[in-house]
Amino acid sequence: MSARPIRIAPSILSADFARLGEEVAAIDAAGADYIHVDIMDGHFVPNISFGPAVMASVRQRTQKPFDVHLMIAPVDLYISAFAKSGADIITVHAEAGPHLHRTLQAIRAEGKKAGVALNPATPVSVLQHVLDDVDLILIMSVNPGFGGQSFIPETLIKLRQANALIGARPIDLEVDGGISAENARAVADAGANVFVAGSSILGGNDPTTYAPRIQAVRTAASTIQA
Ligand code: DX5
Ligand code: ZN
Repeated sequence: MSARPIRIAPSILSADFARLGEEVAAIDAAGADYIHVDIMDGHFVPNISFGPAVMASVRQRTQKPFDVHLMIAPVDLYISAFAKSGADIITVHAEAGPHLHRTLQAIRAEGKKAGVALNPATPVSVLQHVLDDVDLILIMSVNPGFGGQSFIPETLIKLRQANALIGARPIDLEVDGGISAENARAVADAGANVFVAGSSILGGNDPTTYAPRIQAVRTAASTIQA
C-alpha cells in the first residue's frame, strides 16, 4: 500500500460517445477524482478515439483534473494542442518516440504534469534516468488500444518494481487496464495509487451505477492488506 493518496480515474473511452458531455458530468457527480481521457491514433495503437477539439468541448462540463493518456506517435507535435484543450496531466508512451526526455520537458514547459506510460513488455528501467522529469508513471495492465480487456497478472510484479524505483519521490503510480473492485486491492498493495477504470465503471452506461462502482473500487483500493 502506497502512502500516496488513492485517486479513481474513470476512463471515458467506455462512455456513450453520443452523450459524452453528460457522461463526463455524471462521473464527476459520482465522485471521480480524475477524468481519464484516452487518445488513440490508429497508428501507435490499432484503434482511433477522438482528438483535442472533442476534448476541449467536454472539458467545459467538469472542473475535475483531466488525466490525458496519449497513445499516439509521433506525440511531440500534439502536446501543445492537448495542453490548450484542458489537459492537467499529459501522459505519453515511452515507446512512442526516441526522445522521451525532450517530450517530458515539452509537457512541463506547457505548465502541465508529465506522465510516462509503459506497455506490458516495456521494463521500468527505461525510466531510471528521467525520474526527476516525471510526475506520474502509468503501468499498462493490458495492451493499449481497447477497453474491456483482462488484467495481465505480471503487472503486479512490475508495479512493485516501479514503486521501488520511485522511492520517496513525489511521483504518482497509475495502473490502466482491466481494473475493477475485484483486483484493486492487490494492485494497491503493489503500490499503485491512481486507478483507471473504464468498463468496470461506465459499462452499461447507466449513470445511476457510477457512484457505487467508483466507491467499490475506492473501498477495495483503500483496504489495507491483512
Ligand atoms: C486502454 C485504455 C484504457 C481503457 C481501460 O488502451 O488506455 O484507459 O479505457 O478500459 P478498461 O478499464 O475497460 O480495461
Ligand atoms: Zn488509458
